[in-house]
Amino acid sequence: MCGIVGYIGYRKAQDVILRGLGRLEYRGYDSAGAAILSGKKVKIIKKQGKLKILAAELSDNPIAGTIGIGHTRWATHGVPSDANAHPHSDCAGKIAVVHNGIIENYLDLKRELKKSGHRFISETDTEVIPHLIEKFYKGNLEEAVRNAVKMLKGSYAIAVIHEDEPSKVVGARCDSPLIVGVGKDENFLASDVPAILDYTHNVIYLDNHDIVVITKDGVTVKDMSGRIIRKKPSLINWDISQAEKSGYKHFMLKEIFEQGDVIEKIIDERIRDGRVRFDELKIKDADFKGIKNISIVACGTAYHAGLTGKYMLEEYAKVPCSVDTSSEFRYRNPIVNRDTLVIIVSQSGETADSLAALREAKKKGCRVLGICNVLGSSIAREAHGVIYTHAGPEIAVASTKAYTAQLATFYLITLHLAYIRKTVSAAGLKALIKEFKRCAGLMNDLLSEYKSDYNIIAAYAQEFKKYYHLKHNKSYFLYLARNINYPNALEGALKLKEISYISAEGYPAGEMKHGPIALIDENPWVVCIAAQSKTYDKMLSNIQEIKARGGILIAIVTEGDKEMVHHNVNYTIEIPPVDELFSPLLVVIPLQLMAYYVALEFGHDIDQPRNLAKSVTVE
Ligand code: F6R
Repeated sequence: MCGIVGYIGYRKAQDVILRGLGRLEYRGYDSAGAAILSGKKVKIIKKQGKLKILAAELSDNPIAGTIGIGHTRWATHGVPSDANAHPHSDCAGKIAVVHNGIIENYLDLKRELKKSGHRFISETDTEVIPHLIEKFYKGNLEEAVRNAVKMLKGSYAIAVIHEDEPSKVVGARCDSPLIVGVGKDENFLASDVPAILDYTHNVIYLDNHDIVVITKDGVTVKDMSGRIIRKKPSLINWDISQAEKSGYKHFMLKEIFEQGDVIEKIIDERIRDGRVRFDELKIKDADFKGIKNISIVACGTAYHAGLTGKYMLEEYAKVPCSVDTSSEFRYRNPIVNRDTLVIIVSQSGETADSLAALREAKKKGCRVLGICNVLGSSIAREAHGVIYTHAGPEIAVASTKAYTAQLATFYLITLHLAYIRKTVSAAGLKALIKEFKRCAGLMNDLLSEYKSDYNIIAAYAQEFKKYYHLKHNKSYFLYLARNINYPNALEGALKLKEISYISAEGYPAGEMKHGPIALIDENPWVVCIAAQSKTYDKMLSNIQEIKARGGILIAIVTEGDKEMVHHNVNYTIEIPPVDELFSPLLVVIPLQLMAYYVALEFGHDIDQPRNLAKSVTVE
């Protein structure tokens, strides 16, 4: 939800800002802008639309200067437009501010500021910030920013420049991410690490209520009362090449293809001497032993990983488990207590609802474990313990490798708990670990079948598009599954709708007869996850019921399935044979590819789907 960049140093600020924003475009992409201190003036340029529009404008009319701030927007208050794009400025046009977050009391502040003569030109909540800074400015920008943010309710990460103090950029954060990139004779501010990795690998993660001043050769972090806080930079151990497309058409496709290696690496790192090791985890084995129940809380794709986690944890670790979306958990007053382990799952570690749920769980005295991908993110820092998924940077808005890395982490937690709580025998655990490792290899084998653009899933997507037009755009997708693959039905539907804008629903196949079967005629394409499992026969019956009503069927089956040929499905997709427990890791691959190829057929912007953003830092 919006990306911000700040730069001070010796390079052309516009180049650093554009490059940094390019790496943050996943956070929002409906408009972009920059403010650069050029000569003695703050020059602002902002454009509705993707970053390339701003880049073209800056290429035609470059702005000289080595200090600046930039923004890529995901609109909350006010439509995407040039006027609502950031940076925003004060009445005198001397201050420029970029902001990620939401100022909840902006209407009250705006009313007051207007009364004292401040003029506003946008519909945004952000515009109150430069006016507050203007109001408090008495020759010290840092102090004015501190006083201004004290007035704000809500969330913010901001970067500010002022033409009367041309040798600094000031930043502040509360509940929206902000990092400092520490360079040599140059320093950076950014919403996320990829924005600065071209220049430095040394990063300071700011905390809530920090105020930071970066100059060409220094970084000073202070708290709200102006006391200096010493922070050591962390060294980022991954490279920018991991945040590039490496020859793939889209980040999403690249990330799908990375999944086998990601899972292999996770297993290598975490399983040593036949045991699961969570080196960074601060929660002790004894604490895990005492847990009476688990409550998993997450949003979107991470929620689907959590739902899958419930199946494995209950079956193998024998712990009662509930799963909530974060936005429900935080308001429904759940019955959780000090005997509950709350697991918050979040790729970004910044999702506002998940962060609020985490705080709610802590208030209720629960142990909170974060499963996060982004190092140093808010959820990772605020949880009692964190397990990083180590999937590497996920750039495509539609989550793929973060999902399978979350699934892998749930397998690890399950094996760990089963070991500590002795719910599976030593021989049983050994066999499960062996199968888990084998499954990671199978993921790579399966992916290799789809290396070429001319694969069967791409062909099915072409067929779907033809059919869709034939049926006057009335065709849509239904995903059905049972047991541990049911969450994959939800995930397949989510992937498809978010990047192809085609209606899709995921359902437990057994629920069909309780309503959704009324939808079945010749319009829907029904994806039935019918890999070998203890509910395979039940899936065959569901397939018959759909066939009898004219639905077009795609069956995901296990290689060597002899039965399905008798069921006259329209299309089949095979996955290698694997224990049902681990099958979600394989089943999801064709689902992700199906979503990808359908969106490709329809010519959509796959990595940056409309209305979405990677990191949802608003409620
Ligand atoms: C879907 C997707 C979203 C996220 C959700 C939670 O492809 O990416 O549904 O899973 O916004 O985000 P995180 O995991 O960052 O908390």
